[in-house]
Amino acid sequence: MEYNSPLGKIKEQYLLSLLQLPASSDVLEVGCGNGKFLHQILEAYEANVVGVDIDAQLIEQAQSYCVDNFASDCFKFINQPIKEVDLPKDHFDLVVCNGSSHAFGDGESALESTFSEVLKLLKPGGRLLLGECYWKQQPDQSYLDVLGVTQDMYQTHHGNVKLAQEAGFTALYATTSSEDEWDNFEWSRIMSIHSLKGEPDCSSEIKLKAKQLGKWIDIYLGLGRDTLGYGFYILEK
Ligand SMILES: C[S@@+](CC[C@H](N)C(=O)[O-])C[C@H]1O[C@@H](n2cnc3c(N)ncnc32)[C@H](O)[C@@H]1O
Repeated sequence: MEYNSPLGKIKEQYLLSLLQLPASSDVLEVGCGNGKFLHQILEAYEANVVGVDIDAQLIEQAQSYCVDNFASDCFKFINQPIKEVDLPKDHFDLVVCNGSSHAFGDGESALESTFSEVLKLLKPGGRLLLGECYWKQQPDQSYLDVLGVTQDMYQTHHGNVKLAQEAGFTALYATTSSEDEWDNFEWSRIMSIHSLKGEPDCSSEIKLKAKQLGKWIDIYLGLGRDTLGYGFYILEK
């Protein structure tokens, strides 16, 4: 299983090692997708994890991996929008929000809403591991049009840190996805859809998806690769 974000194995393991979670930590991931990061947390630490995502299929994958690999009392997956989940306040040692700030708010307010909501959930001294887009350079209007966003949708890398500090977090660490991580993220989707295309019962849906991804990779290479970055931030309450 892969991440739906430009996060490679080496950085994943490094970020996990930086977290230094105490025993019996409570961990929440907002928009946990297939649960891969929470699975890695359970491999590395003695923790209780909660994953929330609106995608029922991904939650099912996240859950079934845990059923096969971990004790039944250390994980819980919830298939609901995060704002509808009743979560304890001042409770979590770690909240992970990797590519999911839009779960807390729309457009340019998403990151600020994420910070204010996560601050309520973390215990004092608890941490947020945030994965978030940023502008590497001023985006072309044509790129903004394709993404359907305005420039104030994202900050710069420095801007993400500043916004976190203004919200009340102490920034402990920040890094960015490498070009390799981005290339792997974008091209692995092409590779996997094309492997399905070769199968005899390949549906028209898969053929259409392959065509759409072909167009997307063109946009990525022509506009996105030099413009959109992705940062990881460890922020303390
Ligand atoms: C870009 S993906 C990142 C998934 C995962 N963190 C990863 O890196 O693989 C964003 C995830 O947020 C989930 N999501 C979107 N809106 C949500 C909401 N309101 N509440 C919970 N999850 C949400 C999506 O279903 C998706 O799985």
